[in-house]
Amino acid sequence: MVGAGRVGRLHTSNLAEQLGGRARVTALVDPDVQAAGRLAAEFAVAKTYGSLAQALADQSFDGAVITTPTFTHRDLAVTALEAGLDVHLEKPMAMNLVECAAIAEALQASGRRLQLGFMRRFDPAFEAGAALLLSGEIGQPMIIKSLTHGPGLPPPWANDIRTSNGLIAEVCSHDLDTVNWFAASPAREITVKVANFKGRERGVESANFYDTMLATVVFESGALASVAGVCPADYGYDARVEVTATKGMMQVGQTGPGGLAAVKAGAGVSASRVYSSWRERFAEAYRREMSGFADVMEGGQPRVGAEAGAEAVALVVAGVQSLLSGRTVALSEVTANPATPDWQKAL
Ligand SMILES: NC(=O)c1ccc[n+]([C@@H]2O[C@H](COP(=O)([O-])OP(=O)(O)OC[C@H]3O[C@@H](n4cnc5c(N)ncnc54)[C@H](O)[C@@H]3O)[C@@H](O)[C@H]2O)c1
Repeated sequence: MVGAGRVGRLHTSNLAEQLGGRARVTALVDPDVQAAGRLAAEFAVAKTYGSLAQALADQSFDGAVITTPTFTHRDLAVTALEAGLDVHLEKPMAMNLVECAAIAEALQASGRRLQLGFMRRFDPAFEAGAALLLSGEIGQPMIIKSLTHGPGLPPPWANDIRTSNGLIAEVCSHDLDTVNWFAASPAREITVKVANFKGRERGVESANFYDTMLATVVFESGALASVAGVCPADYGYDARVEVTATKGMMQVGQTGPGGLAAVKAGAGVSASRVYSSWRERFAEAYRREMSGFADVMEGGQPRVGAEAGAEAVALVVAGVQSLLSGRTVALSEVTANPATPDWQKAL
């Protein structure tokens, strides 16, 4: 387990307690040795290391689960693949398409497999939605509306477009992957508008910070998509998708475990409990995702991998370019000659 932060803890707990012993976390890697030590003690992980290189020098592994900040993904994924490990890599795959290409190259050369951390691919409701679209029963997608509203501010590195690309990557990567998945057609262009309502009061000083975004994506098929992101939303964690297709419509996801959450005008009463966090809403998907990675380490093919990861990163990079420039950006502008974007060079 590389990274002992929020997602490192979640995946460690699922691997240790939910897979019936199919996989075992034998080492925790984090330069924050205290964080690694605490997590190792909680789940009886035998060894901790300050770096992946130290862990690889000391013992052998079947796989690496990489749950570190986005700006570290390329180096860690390439190191793990070159060491002959299968890799679960958290989303977003990397900071830009140059980094995605380096990971894809190492993957190809290693002959190993890489699972990308798009856990919605493992969620029963999202899976059923994808299967319904594939069946053709409701026809072809015309408009796909995906939203994710997160309850609180993510860690500071995730609020700075130089180290993470911000909300469009850290929260809405999942939506971008979903609209790609459901549209089943290459994205052609993206337009992004952003706003900042709560940054100042929460003490976020990073330049270009935004807590609210709306993206529109046009696909080659002609389908349109909107992706809305809000973080911090404070009322809870909310991830929903609605697809209107040529012969029907479908809705995936609800605001809470009880279904409808309605607010009465003038009374402000919520009719049912709203999900409190992504850990709660996607608890089953995260378990199935780690089970999927155990399958991969046993020789199975990843359900979602580097190709989908890079397609989402292309939308992220074109999206940040759009929000900074105020214009629509064609995907071909970022995919034709991948380069490190200017805003990532400023660190
Ligand atoms: N799939 C999901 O639903 C989901 C949810 C949240 C975050 N994420 C993703 O997971 C990743 C981590 O996010 P987080 O919220 O857990 O971050 P975090 O800041 O809580 O934890 C990251 C940890 O990685 C450690 N770290 C930094 N550099 C390292 C290195 N070189 N080697 C080993 N450890 C290192 C840090 O010390 C920290 O403990 C990000 O890519 C993020 O986008 C995914």
